[in-house]
Amino acid sequence: MIVRPHEIPVQQVHALLLGAVSPRPIAFVSSMDKEGRVNLSPFSFFNVFSANPPILIFSPARKGRDGTVKDTFLNVTEIPEAVINVVNFSIVHQASLASAEYPRGINEFEKAGLTAVPSKVVRPPRVAESPVNLECRINQVIELGKSGGAGNLVICEVLLMHIKDEILGEDGKIDPFKADAVARMGGDWYCRANGAALFRLPQPGNRLGIGFDQLPEAIRNSKILTGNDLARLAGAEAVPAKVQGRTFSAETAKHLKAKELLEKGEVEKAWEALAD
Ligand SMILES: Cc1cc2nc3c(=O)[nH]c(=O)nc-3n(C[C@H](O)[C@H](O)[C@H](O)COP(=O)(O)O)c2cc1C
Repeated sequence: MIVRPHEIPVQQVHALLLGAVSPRPIAFVSSMDKEGRVNLSPFSFFNVFSANPPILIFSPARKGRDGTVKDTFLNVTEIPEAVINVVNFSIVHQASLASAEYPRGINEFEKAGLTAVPSKVVRPPRVAESPVNLECRINQVIELGKSGGAGNLVICEVLLMHIKDEILGEDGKIDPFKADAVARMGGDWYCRANGAALFRLPQPGNRLGIGFDQLPEAIRNSKILTGNDLARLAGAEAVPAKVQGRTFSAETAKHLKAKELLEKGEVEKAWEALAD
């Protein structure tokens, strides 16, 4: 299907974009109004955009129904500070509960049964149950429009990071199995980044693979090997020495064997299995 977003209702554009751009991480944002009243809401229009300076952006959009703005938007324009609390599986239902449209001034920490702990460098408190809290200054708010569905980019600079020791691996980095992060998909779907959903993929870095164009024809036109399989073979910096100068087979059995080896990460052996 081909979709021209300017020709269909905003609601449909919204649903398609959310289904297409997923999974999205969730910023659980604590903010405060000028009277000191605390707010806590989740936003999945969110990501990290820079490490130097450390910048995150989230977007509390204007409501589709009537184009009015959300409490979080009003708060960050009054007090340009926020804490972005990471949502993991153990608090995802509480984050969802906090997304209900409670009137301005209602403290969603209380509604969602979460513990507010004073922050160190900003006024809004942080969520004790969150594995990571990022205390931020709001550098800029960019309004993208005035109608329903218009986003508002809240550009946050991270001033202080709190990371629970329990999610760190022995190398001092965040261990994704311990972090147990969740993300938002389209509709009411979420995804949990744990177990079989996690996999590693070695980075090419400055290693230049030979590329698909240099794969021998019998391999490139395989009926068995998928694009992902071929990418692993094409990621080799050269045809492995053992099979250089050899011809390669289109034989099904050999391609099946190579596929099995590639799934185990044995790229060189896969090349060997494909040689005549
Ligand atoms: C997981 C999740 C992600 C959400 N992401 C967004 C978002 O990116 N932008 C947005 O405007 N609303 C988003 N919402 C809805 C807001 O959380 C909801 O409108 C909330 O009432 C806003 O609160 P506030 O008015 O107190 O700021 C999301 C809701 C959930 C449960």
